[in-house]
Amino acid sequence: MAELVEVRDDKGHFMKMKKYDGRYYVNHFIGNVKDHLAAIEAMNVRDDDTFVVSYPKSGTHWTYTIVNMLRKEETTYPGSLTFLDYTDMETLDNLPSPRVFATHMTFDLLPKQVKEGKGKVVTVFRNPKDVFTSLELFARKMDHEEMKKNYNTTWESFFEFFMDGRIFYGSWFDHIQSWDKVRREHKGNNIQYLIYEDMKQDLRSYVQKLALFLGVSSETEFLEAVTDKCTFRNMADEATKEFTPSEQWKAVMKDKRLPIYRKGEIGDWKNHFTVAQSDYFDEVYTEKMKNSSFTFRFV
Ligand code: A3P
Repeated sequence: MAELVEVRDDKGHFMKMKKYDGRYYVNHFIGNVKDHLAAIEAMNVRDDDTFVVSYPKSGTHWTYTIVNMLRKEETTYPGSLTFLDYTDMETLDNLPSPRVFATHMTFDLLPKQVKEGKGKVVTVFRNPKDVFTSLELFARKMDHEEMKKNYNTTWESFFEFFMDGRIFYGSWFDHIQSWDKVRREHKGNNIQYLIYEDMKQDLRSYVQKLALFLGVSSETEFLEAVTDKCTFRNMADEATKEFTPSEQWKAVMKDKRLPIYRKGEIGDWKNHFTVAQSDYFDEVYTEKMKNSSFTFRFV
């Protein structure tokens, strides 16, 4: 079962996480990790289940919101996401159809039935320099006492942990490599791959693409309404409204809501990376991604 581990840099900055089977998980991942992973593996998947799978800060909330609206054929915002990672199996099993789940885990940890082709998977990728920027600035805002016990990092220390993969959900590079393997080996046609930057440039087309993939209404007026509701501005506005926060976020956030909607732009990393960090990142990227079928533009 999971052990509690602490990673440190030589200046005393640290992160405390759960570690199981060689991978790091956030502390609020359910229980000892092992049992929940086993329950997920054995989960009863329904034909109209959809799994939104992503590395943190790649556009999970955005993609989930679009998928949720399309699947439910209504333009109501979902509020908190239903994460496989932080929700017990009884609750997941009892949710009404159509169910939409989010997870930051990789494909190999999804339910067996999904890996056999049942249900649908939507995965979204984002330029990793923006992923890192978004993640570090997000972590900085998690200023609840509970969080401070587990995370004491700076931009520099977080960069070190991110680059060598000593971070919850593991290295971004390993995450992408795991998807390369899926692309090569998965036999089903139940996966849709999305790129954050492409969605940002032409959201309407991607809403349509997703509607086709999910096999739901492609009526023009409905797709226009979903597109409008899912612009950054409209989602960010919605997130400022009153809502009932889930217990899980009450425990980690001072004002009980997650600071997800920051800028929603492409290339904000340029305002934060030093030249040396960017060069180092490029070096590591070139080496680790040399056999990858995915390419990212550092615009
Ligand atoms: P930034 O921090 O760069 O603004 P996740 O949902 O995986 O945690 O990702 C959060 C990132 O997605 C944040 O990036 C957030 O602003 C961005 N995001 C959320 N909704 C978006 C939208 N509708 N359009 C573009 N970006 C969005």
